[in-house]
Formats: sequence, structure tokens, C-alpha cells
Amino acid sequence: MMEWSDRHCRVLFRHLAPHARVYTEMINTGPLNYGSEEVIRNHLQFSEVEHPVALQLGGSEPAHLAVAAKLGADWGYDEINLNCGCPSERVQRGSFGACLMAEPALVADCVKAMVDVVPPSVPVTVKHRIGLDYNESYDFVRDFVGTVAQAGCNVFVVHARNAVLKGLSPKENREVPPLRYHVVAQLMKDFPQLTFVLNGGIATAEQSSGAANNFHGIMLGRAAYHDSYVLAKVETALYGTPLITREAVVEKMVAYAREQIATTQTHRHPTRVRDIARHMLGLYTGEVGGKAWRRMLSDPKLLNENDPNLFLRAMPFKSVGEEEFSDHRQPLLDALTG
Ligand SMILES: Cc1cc2nc3c(=O)[nH]c(=O)nc-3n(C[C@H](O)[C@H](O)[C@H](O)COP(=O)(O)O)c2cc1C
Repeated sequence: MMEWSDRHCRVLFRHLAPHARVYTEMINTGPLNYGSEEVIRNHLQFSEVEHPVALQLGGSEPAHLAVAAKLGADWGYDEINLNCGCPSERVQRGSFGACLMAEPALVADCVKAMVDVVPPSVPVTVKHRIGLDYNESYDFVRDFVGTVAQAGCNVFVVHARNAVLKGLSPKENREVPPLRYHVVAQLMKDFPQLTFVLNGGIATAEQSSGAANNFHGIMLGRAAYHDSYVLAKVETALYGTPLITREAVVEKMVAYAREQIATTQTHRHPTRVRDIARHMLGLYTGEVGGKAWRRMLSDPKLLNENDPNLFLRAMPFKSVGEEEFSDHRQPLLDALTG
């Protein structure tokens, strides 16, 4: 997710859900084809702990996508995914994203160009919508999937609503067109040899379990970001992994932040605590003390100290029951706001 699922965010997701597959933000083929070594590194670097990690590409020129896919495979990504679901005007101007659904033959060429240059162990997959604008014809998405599959794509991540290319913002395009999961279920019936991952509107562990029973896989977007602990609950529900505590996740992120700050010290853009903290704001969503956690993790003065221990200081402390909750951070918050 653009601006969200950068490498620090993906490390947080990984600690919460060891079995999940994490995806990069959509990365345009331009910088990967024409950028300097440093630009390419900034786009592609990731931590070993992120595996399995998929590189999502945005583009519509087969030769450019081939170069980008090859780079991704060489950097060690586990999957290369082509975005055919983003409805933003900027992306449409570049003739890629969701508008590619109107050109299945071109998408097939793109997929083939990528499949030809990456090792067979690295699948080339497609993320797409179920239709364009207000056309709810099932044949449209069926023909899209059929054509693209013939080029060598076996996995389809389906955001189960239409994309409206004119008149709706990207945000509205994630809310207004109705979710139609039954379309994805029909695709599964019509293409039993293919894998379909359901995306759109899954926000709880219960919904995840329900969807996982009916589809080959599930993908969470906004809920994973705004209420990231849901990922731990989904991990437990789907894989029986003992539920990791938020505190254990915070400790892992402190260690990660320390390591990142130390190893990127000499880089032109060293990692700062704020780069990591911004993805952790949703870790205590709905919890007692969650608001103060957010406040501390977005406080410029505290962030400027660039000290990973901030996460420990901001961690809500609970004794036994919620009624005994005592906010040990109050003096610090008072000092900051006073
Ligand atoms: C801020 C933001 C950025 C997004 N960026 C991307 C992106 O780069 N690539 C992509 O395939 N989908 C992107 N999406 C869409 C999500 O991946 C997902 O398809 C959509 O939010 C529906 O799933 P959800 O209901 O679980 O959030 C983005 C969504 C948001 C909120």
C-alpha cells in the first residue's frame, strides 16, 4: 500500500503474523529502469525477516516490467505482482493500474515478459478488481483472468469490487463500489487450476477465518494498518500460533529500530525512529492507553530524540485488570504538553 507498506511497516507485520505474505507498495517501473543504483536500492531493499515478501510493480510496458521483475528476483523477492487495481488519476495517466483491466491482451504480454526473465521459483501474480466503472458483467473479469492466466499467471489477488475510473477518488474507490465476493467464488469454480486470494473489507479474525474457508487465501489492507494487532489474531485463528503480545512486538521493534539506526548511520538517508514509529500508531487501537501511545509516538519532540526506547516508554502498562490500569507515562506527557 502506497506510503504505508514500506520495509519498516512490513517488519512490523511480519512480527505480528509470521505466516503472512507481505507486499511492497506499488513501485513504478520508471525508477527501476532509469534510476541510479541508490534509487534502486531505496526502492528494493528489505530485511531478511520479511520473507516471504512480494514486490508489487506498476507499469504497462512489457520490456520495462521485465527489467523491473528481473531486478526484483535478483534482489530476492519471493513473488512479483502486477498492479491492475489502482484507480488513481495519476496512475491512469501512466496507463497502468486498474485501467489495464480493459486491455487483457496487454496484461498478458506484460505477464509473459516478466515470467520469461524470472526463475520459475518466483511466481508472477496479478492484483485486480472485478470490473470497471459500473459494468458488472461477470464475463469481463472471467475473460480478463482467462487471458492473463494463459500468459503464465496462476495466482490472482482480487479486490472484490469494481474500480470506477472517472468520478471517484481512490479512497471512494475502496468504499463506494459494493463488495461482491460471489464473483471471486465464481472465478474459483470456473478456473479450478488457479489460485484466488480474496481482498476487500476483511477487518477481523472472525471474518478472516470465514473467508479463508471459502477462498484459497485472504489479503488484509486497511485493517492491518489501522489496527495492526488484528494480524496477530488472524495468525492465531488461521495457523494456531500462540497469540503474541503487543509488548513482545514492541520489544522486537525496539531491537529492529536499534539495528536499523546503527546500520544506516552512514547512508544518505539514515533510518530514524520516526520512520518506524509512524507505522506502529495502530498497534494499541481500541486498547486502554492507546491514545497516549499514539500521542507519544507522533510527538515531534520525542521523535527528535531518535531513541528507540521511546516505544518502551510509550507502551501502555497494565497491571492485572483494566481497572488497575495506571498510566506511568502521565508525567512525561504532562511535561511535553505543559
Ligand atoms: C493508503 C492505501 C494505499 C494503497 N496502495 C495500494 C498499492 O500500492 N497497491 C495495491 O495493490 N493496492 C493498494 N491499496 C489497496 C489495498 O491493497 C486494498 O486492495 C484495499 O484497501 C481493499 O482492501 P481492505 O478493505 O482490506 O483495505 C492501497 C490502499 C490504501 C488505503
